[in-house]
Amino acid sequence: MNYKITVLPGDGIGPDIVGEALQVLELIGERYGHSFQLTEADMGGVAIDKHGIPLPQATIDTCKSGDAVLLGAVGGPKWDTLPGHLRPEAGLLGIRAALGLYANLRPAVIYGALKEASPLKSEIISNGIDIMVIRELTGGIYFGKRGRLETEGGEAAYDTEMYSRAEITRIAKVGFETALKRGKRLMSVDKANVLESSRLWRQVVEEVAKDYPEVALSHMYVDNAAMQLVRNPAQFDVILTSNIFGDILSDEASMITGSIGMLPSASLGAGKLGLYEPIHGSAPDIAGQDKANPIATILSLAMMCRYSLDLPAEADAIESAIVRVLDKGYRTGDIASAGTTLVGTKEMGRIIRAEL
Ligand code: NAD
Ligand code: IPM
Ligand code: MN
Repeated sequence: MNYKITVLPGDGIGPDIVGEALQVLELIGERYGHSFQLTEADMGGVAIDKHGIPLPQATIDTCKSGDAVLLGAVGGPKWDTLPGHLRPEAGLLGIRAALGLYANLRPAVIYGALKEASPLKSEIISNGIDIMVIRELTGGIYFGKRGRLETEGGEAAYDTEMYSRAEITRIAKVGFETALKRGKRLMSVDKANVLESSRLWRQVVEEVAKDYPEVALSHMYVDNAAMQLVRNPAQFDVILTSNIFGDILSDEASMITGSIGMLPSASLGAGKLGLYEPIHGSAPDIAGQDKANPIATILSLAMMCRYSLDLPAEADAIESAIVRVLDKGYRTGDIASAGTTLVGTKEMGRIIRAEL
C-alpha cells in the first residue's frame, strides 16, 4: 500500500528524533512492502523563522491531504518572548484544532527492563504499570477566552476553562470505548469540588456511562489523582480527563515509567487522520547533543501504524523491537542505570532498526 505521511520535525531535539523515526518507517516499508510518501512541512519556531507565523496555511493543507502526521516537538527560548498567538506552541494548538483532533491518547507503560529507571520503589511498580491517559485536546482552558485588562488593583490577566456538553460527550465515549478494549476500568479525573466546568464534566460522563454498563466508572479529584499516581499507579487502567489536567498528569505518568522520553501519543478526531508525537517537548537543554531518547517518537510511529494506517503487525514489530533493545540493556541517558550500555540518539535509532 501507499501512504501519505506529513512530517513536522519542529524545533530543538525535534528534527533528531523524527530523523530516527523516519528511518524506522523506511525500514518498515521495505520489510512489509509499503511505500510511505513523506512530505515535510513547517510548524513551530522553524515556521516563525521562515514564514513569520507558527502555522502556515500550507502546513494545514498538507496535513489534511495526508493519511497521518508525525510531529517532533516545537518551542524554545528563542521564541519565548513573542506574543502568545505567535509562539511555536500556538502552532501546535492550531494544528490540533484545524484537524479536529479532540482525543489525545497517551499510554504510560512500564517496560520490564526499565523498572530500575523508575523513581518509584520496586514494590510499588512490581506488578507493572499500564495506564492509558485520555486527554481532551481541543477544548478547555487551552482554547477558552483569555486576555489582559486593567482593574482597580492594577493589571490583571485571565484564562477561561469552558466545556460544552458535546465536547465532554465525545471524549467520554473515547474513554469508555478504550476501557472496553482494556481492563474495563475508567477513572474520570476532574476538580468538581471547585469548578463548574468539572461538575458538568462529571454529570455528562455519568450519562455516557449508561451506555457502557460493562465499564466500571469512578471519579477522582485531580489533586488526589496526582498523589495516587505515585502512591499506587497500578490502580489505574484508563484515565479520562480535561486538556490541562491531562497535560500535567501525563508528564507525571511518564516519569513513573522511567522517563518522559518513553511516552508516545496519538491525537485523533472523527476520521482516520491522526497526529502522532512524543509527549515531551523540544528539550532545548539537550538539543543538538545526540542525547535525546528517540523511543517516544518511534513508539508514536507504532501508534500511527495502529490507529491511522491499519497496520497492526507493523506496530507490533516496532514495539517488540524496542522491548528487545531495552532487554539487551541499551539506554539513552534519561533511562540509564547501573550496568546498562549508554548510547546516543542516533545509535539508539540504529540499534532499534537492527533489531527490526
Ligand atoms: P521538555 O519536555 O522539552 O523537557 C523537559 C525535560 O525532559 C528536559 O530536561 C529535557 O531534556 C528532558 N527530555 C524531554 N524529552 C526528552 C527526550 N526525548 N530524551 C531525553 N530527555 C528528554 O519540556 P520543557 O523544558 O518544559 O519545554 C521545552 C520547550 O518544549 C518549551 O518551548 C515547551 O513549550 C515545548 N514543548 C513542546 C511540546 C510539543 O511540541 N509537543 C511538548 C512540551 C513542551
Ligand atoms: C504537550 C505540550 C503542549 C500542550 C504545549 C507545548 C502546547 O505540553 O503536547 O503536552 O500543553 O499540549
Ligand atoms: Mn505537555
